[in-house]
Amino acid sequence: MRLGAAAAERLVTAARAARARAYAPYSRYKVGAAVLTRGGVVYAGCNVENATYGATLCAERSAIAAMVSAGDSDPVACAVVTAGPEPGAPCGICRQVLAEFAREMAVLLVAEDPKGKIVGRRSQRLSRLLPQAFGLPER
Ligand code: THU
Repeated sequence: MRLGAAAAERLVTAARAARARAYAPYSRYKVGAAVLTRGGVVYAGCNVENATYGATLCAERSAIAAMVSAGDSDPVACAVVTAGPEPGAPCGICRQVLAEFAREMAVLLVAEDPKGKIVGRRSQRLSRLLPQAFGLPER
């Protein structure tokens, strides 16, 4: 499914708003993410850090959890917004979690400067970020 410009902007706007709410007192690296479902609904999430460090939740998984918790499914795109100058790419665990729901989803990576100006942007299919994703055999 090809993502139109208006849908992409809606998704990026939601991810940017979520990034502003990120809880990242340890790394100070705020991340916002949002997924768009085939039905046109957007679910956003941010990173939620923890004093143990290891219990930290990434923004992408937070957005997926919001979608699943709402009883929704079938994401077609995910936007991830980080600090620049280059957009941060999703970590390996988040790639696998996104792939659980749609291996071919569009992934839009956006970087913003401290004033909130967009300074970097690129996009690709999830299957390029995570080729040969793990999956259980069909039963
Ligand atoms: N982080 C994300 O939210 N998503 C990723 O895909 C990579 C990393 C967060 C986790 C942590 O709060 C901060 O970025 C620094 O690693």
